[in-house]
Amino acid sequence: MLIISCGNDRSKGVRLKLNLKIKIGKAEFKNPVFTASGTFGYGEEYADVFDISKLGAVITKGLTLKEREGNEGLRIHEVPCGLINRIGLQNVGVDDFIKEKTHFLKEQNAAVIANVAGFSENEFYSIIRKLEGQDIIKGYEINVSCPNVKKGGIEFSNDKTLFKNLLKTLRKETKKILIVKLSPSAGNIINFAGIAQDEGCNAVTVANTFKSAVIDTRKQKIKIRGGLSGPAVFPAVLNLVLEIKKAVKIPVIASGGIYNPDTAIQFLLAGATAVQIGTANFIDPMISISIIDGIKKYMQEQKINDINSIIGKVKI
Ligand SMILES: Cc1cc2nc3c(=O)[nH]c(=O)nc-3n(C[C@H](O)[C@H](O)[C@H](O)COP(=O)(O)O)c2cc1C
Repeated sequence: MLIISCGNDRSKGVRLKLNLKIKIGKAEFKNPVFTASGTFGYGEEYADVFDISKLGAVITKGLTLKEREGNEGLRIHEVPCGLINRIGLQNVGVDDFIKEKTHFLKEQNAAVIANVAGFSENEFYSIIRKLEGQDIIKGYEINVSCPNVKKGGIEFSNDKTLFKNLLKTLRKETKKILIVKLSPSAGNIINFAGIAQDEGCNAVTVANTFKSAVIDTRKQKIKIRGGLSGPAVFPAVLNLVLEIKKAVKIPVIASGGIYNPDTAIQFLLAGATAVQIGTANFIDPMISISIIDGIKKYMQEQKINDINSIIGKVKI
């Protein structure tokens, strides 16, 4: 019989039993790799490509009270190492989401977080009331980068009073996990993270897209103004995660520019409990699975059996 030697170091051949489970509030997720809102549809768009129950969570497209067709004109524009989007929250609306999308997600055994967008406090509240009875939904991610039409169009993410009141109202409305998605374009994002913690949010997502613009020099006009995402934003978001993690105790979920396992692991080391894969889905629809596999490989190589032991290992 031929015995294949593992060399002198016997431990090299030993496979660790890995724990990738993480917790946010009272909700447990099978791994820390989520898909980012607006880049993964309602999950069904990717279900032919891979088994979406393998993801830590699917975060839905931003849901509004009524269906929205989104913005007219140019919606996506590629820039070096990133893209600028101004989709304008195109979505089927919360009622059709419940009627047409939740059944499939349940069948797939997916863990779902609903991303919620509103143009008034009442709209956010009404969407959550409609979604409350849906067992498939583990929690909500609140997109505060929306203008409050009742307050002159100022964004919730940019006004401490609007932000605080909104979270207070929503916290009373649900026992599910409440995550607020912070805007990197807000004056002082760290203060907003502190308010989220004080108002009982279970986590903050750091961060939404960066306000950006491109000018067409031939026409001497704005080509696009919208949110920048993709690898271009990764180092800036990593720094925000380090700073916010230093300031608050609630979990941070990192969203910004992940494009391979290494960038995801950097976020975990910086203190993110989970990471979201966004723009990279458009380049490689299997990227989330490659990242989960890459994290497992890293854990084996580094002899880490519990993912939680590396979260926040690197501090400032
Ligand atoms: C085309 C597109 C649509 C998006 N739609 C939403 C949305 O509806 N709600 C939301 O909270 N974030 C939305 N985002 C932001 C992403 O969820 C993510 O936070 C951001 O793109 C940063 O991550 P990334 O660099 O990995 O893409 C969208 C991003 C893109 C590129």
